[in-house]
Amino acid sequence: FNVPEPVNEPVKSYAPGSPERKELQEMLKSLRNLQVDVPMFIGSEEVRTGNKKPMSPPHDHQHILGHFHEGDESHVNQAINAALGAKEAWESMEWEQRAAIFLKAADLLAGPYRAKINAATMLGQSKNAMQAEIDAACEFIDFLRFNVKYMTEIYGQQPPVSGNGVWNRVEQRPLEGFVFALTPFNFTAIAGNLPASAAMMGNTVVWKPAYTQIYSANVLMEVFKEAGVPDGVINLIYVDGPTAGDIIFNHPDFAGIHFTGSTGVFQHIWKTIGENIYKYKSYPRIVGETGGKDFVVAHKSANPKAVAVGLSRGAFEFQGQKCSAASRAYIPSNIWGDVKKYLLEDLASMKMGPTEDFTNFINAVIDEKAFDKISKYIDNAKTAEGVEVIAGGNHDKSKGYFIEPTVLVVEDPMYTTMQEEIFGPVLTIYVYNSEHFEEALELVDQTSPYALTGAVFSTDRYAIELATQKLRNAAGNFYINDKPTGAVVGQQPFGGARASGTNDKAGSMINLLRWVSPRTIKETF
Ligand code: NAD
Ligand code: ALA
Repeated sequence: FNVPEPVNEPVKSYAPGSPERKELQEMLKSLRNLQVDVPMFIGSEEVRTGNKKPMSPPHDHQHILGHFHEGDESHVNQAINAALGAKEAWESMEWEQRAAIFLKAADLLAGPYRAKINAATMLGQSKNAMQAEIDAACEFIDFLRFNVKYMTEIYGQQPPVSGNGVWNRVEQRPLEGFVFALTPFNFTAIAGNLPASAAMMGNTVVWKPAYTQIYSANVLMEVFKEAGVPDGVINLIYVDGPTAGDIIFNHPDFAGIHFTGSTGVFQHIWKTIGENIYKYKSYPRIVGETGGKDFVVAHKSANPKAVAVGLSRGAFEFQGQKCSAASRAYIPSNIWGDVKKYLLEDLASMKMGPTEDFTNFINAVIDEKAFDKISKYIDNAKTAEGVEVIAGGNHDKSKGYFIEPTVLVVEDPMYTTMQEEIFGPVLTIYVYNSEHFEEALELVDQTSPYALTGAVFSTDRYAIELATQKLRNAAGNFYINDKPTGAVVGQQPFGGARASGTNDKAGSMINLLRWVSPRTIKETF
């Protein structure tokens, strides 16, 4: 098929004096004081319930950016009905028309909406300019453009064999019913991709974002509308998760869930779907990308500086709130002194503060609940035996939810912070005897239930091979001599297994195939 060949969206630098920096700074200024009034989008309606909830920057929680209108059970039902009502026209539309809509959305984000989506992500989720750019702009643009290519590969697949007098064909139908996109706070790109990828394949969608991401979700919806997504195809509702889930998971036309979020919530959802299985017309598709406890393991041959940079960037970009963030490390004793020196040097150079000041690398964590949870891990570590806090450790929520990048060194490789997902700027390091690399690999594999991302650092090919084999099931995205974050669409398809998800690789044909249900047709002449 003839579709534009996707190329990864170039990342803008936002260097001092650059035109993109100026434009972004102006956008930040104007959005900060705009006092937006954010409706839900159901069918052709912008729904304002009057039940207004404030939205604030996590780094400046007393400042109000605007309000969103919260909905209730009735809005969930309205959104389902709108999705079902829009289904017939949408699924019978030629795929080229659907593709064109999402390619236009990508172009809008790459051009006129770039500053707005980045500014909304910086203000609403407290990402610095570069983190917003690689997420809300580049990653989402890439999702849209690459998914269009994968879509055409699905529709253009080699047909089955036919013989004289017989014609066999396979038709890729959208799912029967509606899809529920339930999205997390931490990536604007993921929040947009979950409804968009299911919709691209001809499905209609009810989309419920995390409340802490509504500020940028509203901009994504503006882009979808301007690109031409018809009314009812993506219905955006602001209803609390359990309320929405109660109605959706009991509905006979519930056809699938596209989820990204925590492991506990996903397991609860899966169990609920199982309990309701007799209610559905079809077995719902269950696609979920969930938590992580991502590792870095270094071999005695590793370059200490490369390890230190991998740790500081891998663990602390976006305050460690990436599913892929390095949060436990296994460092051999022979290079530990150098790794520690470089790591502390790099941390000392990371300024913390609001996103509007572009010199701040570290911003705030997402909300008070996250702040309290992360701070508790740190405070417990401060008084625990066999745990040394070698960097950070301070936190302050008086103005924003600020937590210093914190590094713990533990004597016990099974200490809580080596096992549990903290989802904040906390890195735990275990220093192992450099002669015991294989035992360290066993620890990596067995310490946590997750298997999302991980990295090995080594200059010894035998050690790289050993780690690659031993850690075969410990990560869905495995990095050799690089940090475990920053997967790029089209280059490193992303997703994990074990407690980290169904590994349907966001931004790949594997994922798009979950949103179609093939029908085989045999015709005899
Ligand atoms: P979360 O699980 O708290 O929320 C995700 C979504 O589920 C939100 O929209 C939330 O409102 C909703 N929800 C919460 N409880 C619910 C319930 N009982 N019923 C129905 N819906 C419910 O996750 P989060 O805090 O927004 O995101 C952080 C988590 O997401 C981390 O665990 C992170 O590792 C994970 N994550 C994973 C990936 C990946 O690709 N594996 C990517 C990004 C984030
Ligand atoms: N693309 C994101 C990362 O790899 C999820 O960090």
